[in-house]
Amino acid sequence: MNYVLAPSILAADFKVLGQEMKKTEDNGAEYIHFDVMDGMFVPSISFGMPVMASIHDATEQFMDAHLMVQEPIRYVEAFQKAGADSVTVHVEACEDVKATLNKIRECGMKVGLSINPETDVKEVVPYLEEVDMILVMCVHPGFGGQKFIPESLDKIRAIRVMLNEKNLETDIQADGGVYVENVREVLDAGANVIVAGSAVFRGDAGENTAKFMEILKSYE
Ligand code: DX5
Ligand code: ZN
Repeated sequence: MNYVLAPSILAADFKVLGQEMKKTEDNGAEYIHFDVMDGMFVPSISFGMPVMASIHDATEQFMDAHLMVQEPIRYVEAFQKAGADSVTVHVEACEDVKATLNKIRECGMKVGLSINPETDVKEVVPYLEEVDMILVMCVHPGFGGQKFIPESLDKIRAIRVMLNEKNLETDIQADGGVYVENVREVLDAGANVIVAGSAVFRGDAGENTAKFMEILKSYE
């Protein structure tokens, strides 16, 4: 299993975004997590395709787009064109989940499916064979800097057990409220892709990335 850090630029200082991303890349973060919010599926609005297009060639990092967007199928092609390597959609946001996942696959990107804290894990069961990654929201989507919801650990565990039963080595991404102090619990539960916004970009992004990477490497 590959253990990966995905710094969420939502918490970054956008006037120096390129430099901030570079610090995470130089210290071993393989992904950049890109949180797209539409003001409908979640209350806030963040950023979209033009920002992705501008940053994706500033780094070699894998562009991990997390669409907190109603009916995300409408934007799959646009994110592919903007440089996304993967697109993750919410099971709660899609009228036709299967068609949305197929569309991401057809566009040549890795396929991710996310569930909110109040959504039962059984909602993702029909799609386990169809996805490269399951994203477990560990806070209510829409804002960075929230407190980790402890019940998320049970969900991560339950999904890892189901994947193992099916002999699937699918990634499980944990997103929201993850810090150096609690990341081991998240990894022990079965997550292997760690999203961290505040924990990376509040303070020295390079040093913070290095601290996460030391822990992630001990799990390889
Ligand atoms: C929340 C986003 C997260 C967020 C995480 O809606 O999906 O990716 O940026 O931020 P932190 O790590 O600050 O909780
Ligand atoms: Zn996210």
